[in-house]
Amino acid sequence: EKGGHEYFMLKEIEEQPEALANTLRGHFSNGRIVLDEQRLSDQDLRDVDKVFVVACGSAYHSGLVAKYAIEHWTRLPVEVELASEFRYRDPVLDRDTLVVAVSQSGETADTLEAVRHARAQKARVLAVCNTNGAQIPRESDAVLYTHAGPEIGVASTKAFLAQIAANYLVGLALAQARGTKYPDEVAREFHELEAMPDAVQRVLGTVEQVKALGRELADSKAVLFLGRHVGYPVALEGALKLKELAYMHAEGFAAGELKHGPIALIEENLPVVVVMPSPKGRAVLHSKLVSNISEIQARGARTIVIAEEGDETVRPFADHLIEIPAVPTLLQPLISTVPLQVLAAEIARSRGYDVDKPRNLAKSVTVE
Ligand code: BG6
Repeated sequence: EKGGHEYFMLKEIEEQPEALANTLRGHFSNGRIVLDEQRLSDQDLRDVDKVFVVACGSAYHSGLVAKYAIEHWTRLPVEVELASEFRYRDPVLDRDTLVVAVSQSGETADTLEAVRHARAQKARVLAVCNTNGAQIPRESDAVLYTHAGPEIGVASTKAFLAQIAANYLVGLALAQARGTKYPDEVAREFHELEAMPDAVQRVLGTVEQVKALGRELADSKAVLFLGRHVGYPVALEGALKLKELAYMHAEGFAAGELKHGPIALIEENLPVVVVMPSPKGRAVLHSKLVSNISEIQARGARTIVIAEEGDETVRPFADHLIEIPAVPTLLQPLISTVPLQVLAAEIARSRGYDVDKPRNLAKSVTVE
């Protein structure tokens, strides 16, 4: 039942190409992005002047990733907020605000209350959800289902990748309605997304390498994760996975903040995972990260670098190099997350923990 694996999570990690393909399927027809259960008109989408993404846990990280794409494509301001914070402050909302509520289960209490709060303020609410007919989609104006299939592992993997893809579809639908992208550009972005299941499949080729690394790192006290741009939320997600599964102190940082604090934590043998941007796609950020890694390495940390295939400049600074295919920058989180999932699972397994049922955590948090 676990597909021959020791834990479900690995089976679900391997199902990610399919989860992505199923989530994208049917959403491009006659040259246009189509959402499902779309109870918002094109006019409603055109009127949107601000987007909030509200969610918890990994779903929140999927929103942080999507902010980069949605702002770039639509020129709309996008705020991403933890549902538990959003609902208890007084966010500025009106009928031209689109609130995207992202939830695998569709039952998370804080996200549901955030939806209710947003609707009471007349904002339009679009749910991104993996569970048919769950409470959050029922109470929303529109729904976009992720088709990741049931997720058994408590720590989200395939649902997270599917959430990023669905959030991107929301961004493309907004860009299309607002005319901030020409139809052929929207089509091209969609086709690039459609190519991602194959890229994820290729990244799965690193599973054995990453598992071996996980076994080596099992006795570490802490692990730091650094990234920039879309690699920053990936760093946060990598750290969350490690906390959830391996009960290890893990923190994700924006690499640009290194000198503003995190560098004080660097010590001999501390594993530091760095998510590199493409040397071609983001040359400036790439070179800044290379200098970050060299500083970290000079202080004796153990550098684990996730970098694009053929990226020779990072090689001298990487104690351990995990290569991923070259893909458009905005889509890189769909592949760079995968080794971090495997790493967390394997460290947890090596430490003797139940990867699918981590202590103190529930798959869906329906109480506060
Ligand atoms: C947590 C889960 O409790 O809830 C996470 O362990 C998940 O994996 C988070 O991301 C949010 O859940 P949901 O169902 O709202 O996406």
